[in-house]
Amino acid sequence: MVDLGATPGGWSQVAAKRVGETGKVIALDLLEMQPIHAVDFIQGDFREDEVVRKLEEKLAGRKIGLVLSDMAPNMSGVPLVDQARGMYLAELGLEFCRQHLKPDGAYLVKVFQGSDFETFVKAMREMFVTVATRKPKASRDRSAELYMLGRTLR
Ligand SMILES: C[S@@+](CC[C@H](N)C(=O)[O-])C[C@H]1O[C@@H](n2cnc3c(N)ncnc32)[C@H](O)[C@@H]1O
Repeated sequence: MVDLGATPGGWSQVAAKRVGETGKVIALDLLEMQPIHAVDFIQGDFREDEVVRKLEEKLAGRKIGLVLSDMAPNMSGVPLVDQARGMYLAELGLEFCRQHLKPDGAYLVKVFQGSDFETFVKAMREMFVTVATRKPKASRDRSAELYMLGRTLR
């Protein structure tokens, strides 16, 4: 399992419990993260090729069952800019999935609704057999953030 935008580590903790002793969790974030048992952490910017290469080295050719991305850009306060930056991270995650997911793998990603939202939904539908969308209760009503789950590569 790969957890993108993992700090402070809430999802990684749950993921480590779920995968058990035989599974593997690799977490990545721009910011430091306190060590979590059975989680391999990389500090770096997912937009940088060199950081993605480090992640690929840890994978060592193994395909991934689940990619999580809760990456959220630093908010500038300008909605168009923030939405575009958030969407770019979601798209980078999707591209990573194209190369590294198992055929029956899944991608759970936080997305920011806005002008290019429909294009992203289309890209998810082109890549996955099923695509579900959820807006968690915990996410503030007025926030444009929601989660999408794509399952099984086409
Ligand atoms: C909402 S937090 C994640 C919370 C985490 N899922 C948890 O359960 O604790 C979003 C994270 O995305 C990270 N992030 C934003 N842009 C990133 C990037 N380009 N590369 C890596 N991490 C990034 C931020 O540093 C931040 O820690």
